[in-house]
Amino acid sequence: MTAQIISGKKISKEIKAELKVECEELKAKHNVVPGLAVIIVGEDPASQVYVKNKRITCEKLGIKSFSHDLPEDTSEAKILGLIDELNNNAEVHGILVQLPLPKHINDEKVLMAIDPEKDVDGFHPMNVGKLVTGSPAYLPCTPHGCIQLLLRSGIETSGAEVVIVGRSNIVGKPLANMLFQKAVGANATVTVCHTRTKDVAFHTKRADILIAAAGVPKYIKADMVKPGAVVIDVGIHRTDDGLCGDVDDAVREVASHITPVPGGVGPMTITMLMMNTIRSAKVHNNLE
Ligand code: GUN
Repeated sequence: MTAQIISGKKISKEIKAELKVECEELKAKHNVVPGLAVIIVGEDPASQVYVKNKRITCEKLGIKSFSHDLPEDTSEAKILGLIDELNNNAEVHGILVQLPLPKHINDEKVLMAIDPEKDVDGFHPMNVGKLVTGSPAYLPCTPHGCIQLLLRSGIETSGAEVVIVGRSNIVGKPLANMLFQKAVGANATVTVCHTRTKDVAFHTKRADILIAAAGVPKYIKADMVKPGAVVIDVGIHRTDDGLCGDVDDAVREVASHITPVPGGVGPMTITMLMMNTIRSAKVHNNLE
């Protein structure tokens, strides 16, 4: 059996087409242009690529992009001052601070400074809390992208055994919380594996849906996957042979469905960010 490919590229294209129409309607009927401010500090090459792609996608959909590219040695006070300015700018509906930040800056303090109503990444503790209690405001983009891939591929999560490998604040933790909610695209039984899990393969072999977000290239091998499982690969790594994910190529011969790298989860993350920004523009203009 060779797995069916779940194309994030194709699914994100469909969603972006829907979002472009929403932007056009907002402008035509209400004279509202959604605005997203993206702050990047330093020269991390991967972050530079992500931020560039976010800005290009904004332009394509009709979202106004506000760029703030700051040098590596920018002080925390300067960043907090900029966030305060953006919190009070009515043209800005979403504020995103690209992570990771340089070591001298306290991530938590910076994320806490963003107005929760403009927190389109869904990282503010207020929005994390809302997600856990089941009344989410802004869903974090990568986990939401994973759920949309499953939903739009017709994969049933209700009652499914889902195993997530990885417990980061950006993917593993929010995704686990989203998947066990009493909600459409959720209702799963969720297990989270991490670096202290005694026997990762014991858990992954039980998964109907396996989500790899360990941050280790090709970590998930074919003998760790149940035949017929759905595999979502959140990893992205630059190697001498090009990009690869957290899932080994041979898993394609075992899984029923799998996301590729690149062209799987990556394009969905950006698309969900655009969705959150448009939603925020609507909320800020009392249109939702
Ligand atoms: N760095 C890696 N992923 C993300 C993300 O989803 N949002 C932000 N702000 N930074 C990231």
